[in-house]
Amino acid sequence: MKFSTFFRFASFGVKTILFKKEDPILGTVIVTDRCNLHCKHCSVNNITAVMHPFAQIRQEMQVLYDMGVRILFFCGGETFLWRDGDMTLRALVLEARRMGFLIVNVVTNGTFPIDLPEADLILLSLDGDREHHNEIRGDTYDTIMENIANATAGNICFYMAINKINKDCVRHVCEKARDTKNVRAVSFNFHTPYPDTKELALSREEKAECCETIRQMMKEGAPVFNLKSAFPYLVDNSFPTPCRQCVVIENGKISVCGRCIDVPGLCEKCGYFFVAEYTLLFKGNLKVVFEMLRTYLKYI
Ligand SMILES: C[S@@+](CC[C@H](N)C(=O)[O-])C[C@H]1O[C@@H](n2cnc3c(N)ncnc32)[C@H](O)[C@@H]1O
Ligand code: SF4
Ligand code: SF4
Repeated sequence: MKFSTFFRFASFGVKTILFKKEDPILGTVIVTDRCNLHCKHCSVNNITAVMHPFAQIRQEMQVLYDMGVRILFFCGGETFLWRDGDMTLRALVLEARRMGFLIVNVVTNGTFPIDLPEADLILLSLDGDREHHNEIRGDTYDTIMENIANATAGNICFYMAINKINKDCVRHVCEKARDTKNVRAVSFNFHTPYPDTKELALSREEKAECCETIRQMMKEGAPVFNLKSAFPYLVDNSFPTPCRQCVVIENGKISVCGRCIDVPGLCEKCGYFFVAEYTLLFKGNLKVVFEMLRTYLKYI
């Protein structure tokens, strides 16, 4: 991370904490909800299957930029499916850079060739070892590993949503992140129980066990892009929600925090680590503040 970027985020953090501000800093644009997969735990794929045009996405990026967002995520559906004429996801990433976003990340299922060195991080969903990942995501594990081996940059970060099916694969994914070329780290979430996937949610005890494994793996040097100081709050679901400093825009509609904000009762059961980490950070939790500084400087 450049010093100027670090300084910008540090001053945003200080202002937000001291003056209890709610301005957003992290924004997500949903480029399409079309997806080539139908993962067992996912409730957001292929609802409209519309591919939003470049001009619309560009305008949405501008809206976020004008609100103060500087960390931008492109998400879907499957982001690497996105096209507008000859333009691919790279055109969106380059446009975001040109507009002045300081960090530009992409989330993908990894089933398409990965040639996007312009992104700061490519969050690539890996949901366990071959058996458990494929049980959740269809027969995709080997394709993903091949795409990672052939990727043109080392900017990949595994992204694992931990649920009832794959809860015993945390160690495996940590080791895979440590040992795989082109992979820089791994970042976790717990399953967030939308009404149609409630049965995949972890109990408090299962979450505690997963956090203990992650903590142990961090101790052993695994590259985990999460904050252990937020774990107790994630286990108990006692972190504040929603995250006021995060926004998402999908087809012109802006939501605070996540597109899940409209699902009744979901925020109390939220499993997204970024929500715990950012809300605790901006509440001024000192352990989180110091760990965030160390972790972000290490992985971005
Ligand atoms: C919706 S997908 C979109 C990007 C891409 N298709 C992918 O799979 O990475 C973004 C991330 O959300 C995760 N996810 C989906 N449903 C979830 C849920 N109910 N709780 C937690 N994470 C979830 C997926 O596993 C994935 O890592
Ligand atoms: S690949 Fe991503 S968007 Fe597609 S079904 Fe799976 S989690 Fe949902
Ligand atoms: S806090 Fe609520 S809106 Fe935010 S990600 Fe969690 S469930 Fe979604």
